[in-house]
Amino acid sequence: MRQDHLISASHLSREDIEAVLDRAADIDDDPAAFRQRHAGKVLGLCFFEPSTRTRMSFDSAMKRLGGQTVDMGPVESSSVKKGETLADTVRVVEGYADALVLRHPSEGAATMASEFVDVPLVNAGDGAGQHPSQTLLDLYTIRENAGLDDLTIGIMGDLKYGRTVHSLAEALTNFDASQHFVSPESLRLPRNVRYDLHASGAQVREHTELDEVLPELDVLYVTRIQRERFPDENEYRKVAGQYQIDSETLESAADDLTVMHPLPRVDEISPDIDDTDHATYFEQAHNGIPVRMALLDILLSQDR
Ligand code: NCD
Repeated sequence: MRQDHLISASHLSREDIEAVLDRAADIDDDPAAFRQRHAGKVLGLCFFEPSTRTRMSFDSAMKRLGGQTVDMGPVESSSVKKGETLADTVRVVEGYADALVLRHPSEGAATMASEFVDVPLVNAGDGAGQHPSQTLLDLYTIRENAGLDDLTIGIMGDLKYGRTVHSLAEALTNFDASQHFVSPESLRLPRNVRYDLHASGAQVREHTELDEVLPELDVLYVTRIQRERFPDENEYRKVAGQYQIDSETLESAADDLTVMHPLPRVDEISPDIDDTDHATYFEQAHNGIPVRMALLDILLSQDR
């Protein structure tokens, strides 16, 4: 990887992505070979927003590499409550750890924090901005199930506030992928992401109805409406409950359609899909382990 930090998927080249994915595949094949790889190293977890998968899978990944973790814990019981700035918090925690994982409600927080630290920093979600380590596990899951070449993907739901969407869409411009975005008008991709996609020559189309594209898709990536990011609860209510799928919705889909979701889901994917061959979201969440192990292995092995 060219960078010390992982802040945005737009910084990832195809080579960077393939290096992480190939390393993750090696780890999947022989996890025992990596068990002592980073013994004695410590990963700092700084989560200023709720998290289950991201926090726990980074924690588990570091331990499976032989390392340990220190966790800031909930914001309510940290010095943030006393008014400490983010810059001070990360400068302190960098002294306790060899790498940092940061999740924060403000877009741009990871970029800002990375300017204050010398250890590698991974953006684990900055508001409605980016979530690049999620993207790496998404790409790994796509590669395993549908392949990354000549891919037709539908990305549906909250494209405006969904940071996993922004990162995935930008990373996919490194591959020969045709991207279909399905959302209500009010939750279209933000202008800056659309601009980046067009600037990179990506094949992109926007839709308000899933039916228009479903039969062509290899992958359908469903996302949660990001209720916590809506400035107005009424605006949330207008779109809540739209864009749900169940097994009836998928009748016109290809038999080998891969259905993904970064999770947590609320009501976007009916549980009646869980037992079908389409359902790939739990496997996707589990891929967080080899992929985050691979990412940490690469970041912690770089000469600094
Ligand atoms: C996502 C997030 O935090 O952006 N969750 C995750 O990390 N798997 C998606 C979401 O919260 O909807």
